[in-house]
Amino acid sequence: MRNLTSSELRKLYLEFFRSKGHAIISSASLIPENDPTVLFTTAGMHPLVPYLMGQKHPEGRRLADVQKCVRTGDIDEVGDASHCTFFEMLGNWSLGDYFKKEAIAYAWEFLTSEQWLGIPKEKLSFTCFEGDKDAPRDTVAHDRWVEMGVDPSHIVYLPKKHNWWGPAGQTGPCGPDTEIFYDTGKAPCGPDCQAGCDCGKYLEIWNNVFMEYNKVADGVFLPLDQKNVDTGMGLDRTVATLQGVESIYDTDAFAGILSVITNLSGKHYKDSPETVRAFRIIADHIRCATFMLGDQRGVTPSNVDQGYILRRLIRRSIRFATQLGIPDGKLSDIAVAVIDQYGSVYPELEENRDKIVSELDKEQQRFTNALKKGTREFESLVSKMEGTQISGPDAFHLYDTFGFPVEFTVELAAEKGLTVDMDGFKAAFEAHQEKSHAGAEQRFKSGLQDNSETTVALHTATHLLQAGLRKVLNDDSVSQKGSNITPERLRFDFSFPRKVTPEELQKVEEFVNEAIAADIPVTCEEMTVSEAKAAGAIGLFESRYGAKVTVYTVPGYSKEICAGPHVTHTGELGRFKIKKEEASSAGVRRIKAVLIHE
Ligand code: SER
Repeated sequence: MRNLTSSELRKLYLEFFRSKGHAIISSASLIPENDPTVLFTTAGMHPLVPYLMGQKHPEGRRLADVQKCVRTGDIDEVGDASHCTFFEMLGNWSLGDYFKKEAIAYAWEFLTSEQWLGIPKEKLSFTCFEGDKDAPRDTVAHDRWVEMGVDPSHIVYLPKKHNWWGPAGQTGPCGPDTEIFYDTGKAPCGPDCQAGCDCGKYLEIWNNVFMEYNKVADGVFLPLDQKNVDTGMGLDRTVATLQGVESIYDTDAFAGILSVITNLSGKHYKDSPETVRAFRIIADHIRCATFMLGDQRGVTPSNVDQGYILRRLIRRSIRFATQLGIPDGKLSDIAVAVIDQYGSVYPELEENRDKIVSELDKEQQRFTNALKKGTREFESLVSKMEGTQISGPDAFHLYDTFGFPVEFTVELAAEKGLTVDMDGFKAAFEAHQEKSHAGAEQRFKSGLQDNSETTVALHTATHLLQAGLRKVLNDDSVSQKGSNITPERLRFDFSFPRKVTPEELQKVEEFVNEAIAADIPVTCEEMTVSEAKAAGAIGLFESRYGAKVTVYTVPGYSKEICAGPHVTHTGELGRFKIKKEEASSAGVRRIKAVLIHE
């Protein structure tokens, strides 16, 4: 088996799929566009949903990529060997091109051939969908693995819970998957231990999803016209496997980051179980925070949405940095190590180096102030309470509202001869976590863009709004920072240093309504990134220079790189009305607007 670094694996994977006729596409932003159902890009398939649903991709029907992803459902689990918030997913995609047979042959060749990863065949196990009332047992995948030379005793059939990818409670494309596991060599946990068991013996390294159904209602699965392949291989995990180390934090990707933490703290990663946990939490959280701050659609810390998650990550890192004895204000040194590690693959990190450092410094200062406020709240709470125990809900209130770590509450309480009801705190914490988990889960499962008529119309209105803002504010630096569309309204965040005046807003409305009144046909063209730039298109130039992108134009009004979809004529929009303009975060304004059909 080859011992590869993470950058070698990234390169090799893309090289393999390029040799199989795949176009290499760039990672999309971590912040989904026009999708109100998720905060972050949670899987490689996420930015490709419109294409999985049948829209034509400008780069063709065979694609491969490395996608930045964030999953935040398990933030509090980070610190063990496997949980992390940020990760990179290697993926190969067939948009109605090849299907199970080729996908499985590619996966097998890449994993086992000496020319590629050279993993010994006997170390691999596979799971396939066992079948149920909705879809048959996936014997095609099973038999194909056997044809490749897999011993049938290394293949197991499992139910939908394990081997199905797609919108659970919702509608949309979905299908059975086949998952590939590496046997770590640990002793089995019991007689039933097999691929799919989560005891740690079998490590899932690659998931191949066969999107062959469209779920149209509960229990109603119709065959899709376009059968797709969606695969996801965790980069860090696979590197850990190839390097023979016990956790992703022991791979080369983290070496530079951990050594900066050592320099700052004077402690070593493996000194004790506490240092292992603290080092991992800081390394994971600062890596994730650096990618969020340095994203094409950069996030800044705030109390809502993506900004809130970012804030939580930074504040949790500060807590563990304090525990390790790292002096105040040093997190940005760790972020610099992240930029050094990843900057050549993700140039946006280099471009945003100063911003990343300054935002981290500012957030640390804010947290110090919040701690002061939290201490005051603690004092007032104690002065009012009866008995000698701080209740669980009160301790949780300090944690949730002031970002006040419960350990601080316990320490302060002890100084006053008081205790904290930790069971009550845990109960309040878990109840909250369940709620946010349910939210995250729901958001994720319904993670398909809504293509209803009203949403599509609001999407076109968003383009006109951005064009109007740029014209009226006479400022080319007005650029999109976020877009969120529900069937009821659009919400658009953009960079601008001050409040937009009512007069200016009125002019923007007039600009958009003029374009609507003219009932202009909306055109869509494919061109290269450089052609799009030359044509004056705005939007994220996140693809590599020669790559093809789709450009939507409302002639005379707007030209933007975008995946669509849009209305065919602006007249379909109705009347455009801005409902609200407000600050979203420092230097970013937010507009909410609706379309009225009279
Ligand atoms: N969508 C699947 C996953 O995220 C495969 O890419 O695991």
